Order: sequence, then structure tokens, then C-alpha cells
Amino acid sequence: MKRSRRANGAAESSAAFALDGENALEFDNVTFGYKDQAVLDGASFTVKRGEFVALVGPNGTGKSTSLRLADGLLKPSSGAVRVLGADTQKVRVSDLAKHVGFLFQNPDRQICQNTTREEVAFGLRVLYGDDDPRVEARTNEVIDLLHLNPDVDPFNLAKGQRQAVALAGLIAVEPDILLLDEPTTGFDYDECMEMMAHIAKMNAAGTTVVMVCHDMEVVLDFAQRAIVLANGHVIADGSVREIFHQHDVLEQASLLPPQICELSQRLERDFPELANIFGTEEMADAICALKEERF
Ligand SMILES: Nc1ncnc2c1ncn2[C@@H]1O[C@H](COP(=O)(O)OP(=O)(O)OP(=O)(O)O)[C@@H](O)[C@H]1O
Ligand SMILES: [Mg+2]
Repeated sequence: MKRSRRANGAAESSAAFALDGENALEFDNVTFGYKDQAVLDGASFTVKRGEFVALVGPNGTGKSTSLRLADGLLKPSSGAVRVLGADTQKVRVSDLAKHVGFLFQNPDRQICQNTTREEVAFGLRVLYGDDDPRVEARTNEVIDLLHLNPDVDPFNLAKGQRQAVALAGLIAVEPDILLLDEPTTGFDYDECMEMMAHIAKMNAAGTTVVMVCHDMEVVLDFAQRAIVLANGHVIADGSVREIFHQHDVLEQASLLPPQICELSQRLERDFPELANIFGTEEMADAICALKEERF
């Protein structure tokens, strides 16, 4: 990740900017396109520090592009993207990289070292310098935390484990903002939950998380807020529960709500007590209460 950032740092300026704004991320009327193809057309949203936000929408609508705008690798054609208050047109990509971590869907785009230990240490070396004692101490801490084998070549691991190594490198540097592009696609349920548990812990410790995700079960379980992108701009922005109730938004953005939401919505016509239920235990409790009350 950091290797490619350095390779793409052509737009860097030498000016130093404080990255200490109140909001983690601001998209202010952003337009962006690739050659002839317009992608974003006036997209605006704000992510506050400490939030866990899901960025959702139809295929090809510009979610991954938005993440690349957020880490400064891409620049808007008009409007502004601000990271921790700093305009990405003005701040150096290498300075942004000290605050923003990016987990790719494919860990092989991220991993660049021959052992897990070196991979976990890589970002720390960039941050602190090769000889700083914090590099070894923090590397060991994170390897223990994720129960990784430090001496193995990450490319010999299964995909789920490679993604864990890639995530370990990010956990090590404790970024202010973590950008996730489909972090769990291709994982089985256990791998998905393990990965998300680590991400949830980072969020609980203060890291702002912006996650692109097609799996609405994961969005419901982990994100507090959903920003829905379609046709180049934000068509809805609200709590995940609110968004899953907006049928027109779900249809426009081709989103399939979690099964528990569909079940609740179908049952609420005959049993209003079962409206707005988003968890299986919550549903079981509500049905038991209903049974006692009505039958
Ligand atoms: N490097 C690129 N060069 C040219 N066009 C691109 C490039 N990357 C993406 N696109 C196009 O821009 C549009 C938005 O792509 P993007 O990957 O941001 O969408 P997405 O919402 O992440 O889609 P998905 O849900 O399929 O991951 C798509 O039509 C895509 O084909
Ligand atoms: Mg994408």
C-alpha cells in the first residue's frame, strides 16, 4: 500500500498542513471522472471522527473511486476532498498516508514483504524509521494479538490469512482513518467475523472506519451509518436502520437488505409489534412477548 502511494506521489507539494480537523473526511460537491467517463457528479458527505460508516451502492457507481479520492491518490476534478480538515489537493500524499490506512479487497495488492514479521513492520519503519525500538515492540505486539506466524511467507498463506497479515500491518500503525474496500468478500463466515472483530476493535479504540461493502448483513452488524451512492452522488445518508427502511433507496441502489429486516417488514402488516426489528434474538423475544399477549 505505502509502496504504491510513494510511486504515485507525483502531485505532492512541499507545503506542510496540519491534519487535525474536527471531521475525519469531507466530500464537498466532488466531481471526478476517468478520461471520458464521469463517475462522481456533485457527491457530498461528511464522516465524523470515530464513526464507522458504510459506503454502499450499485456496481460501478464510484465507491472504490471515492476511497481512492479519500486517501489522496486521486484528486477531484472540482469540489474538495478534505481529510482531517486538509484539502487533498494541497497536502502531500505521504503526509496523508501517516493518517489513513487502506485495506484492499485483494491482500496481494497490499503485501510487499517476504515474511509476516517484515510485512507487519513495514508501515512502522516508514512511520518511525528503521532503527526505532517502537518498530520491533509494536510488530511483536500485533503478531501476538492476531496469533500470526511471524516467519512464514505471506504469499504461502490462504487468502483469509493473507488478509489478516495485511490488516495486521494497518493495526500496527494505528491510522486515524481506515478505508476498507470490500474487506470480507470471498471469506467464509468465521473468517469474515474474525476480520470484522479486529476492525470493530480498531474503531472502538478511536479509528474512523469507512467501509465499502456489498454484504448488508455485515453493514447492519458493524456500521453505524450508511452513505448510499448512486448516479454519481449521495442519494441517502442516515443510520443503517433508517436506510434499510427506505424501499425506494434500496431499489435505486440495488441493495438487498438483510433477511431479518425483510422478515420484520413482511410481518409488520399483520403484527405491528414486529416492526423495526433488526436482530434474530430481538425477533425471538418480540414473538414470545406477542404470543403471551395475544394467544
Ligand atoms: N482506473 C480506471 N480507469 C478507467 N475507468 C475506471 C477506472 N477505475 C474504475 N473505472 C470505472 O469507473 C466507474 C466507477 O468504478 P468504481 O470501481 O469506483 O465503482 P464501484 O462502485 O467501486 O464498483 P464495484 O461495486 O463494482 O466495486 C466504473 O464504471 C469503472 O469501470
Ligand atoms: Mg469497488
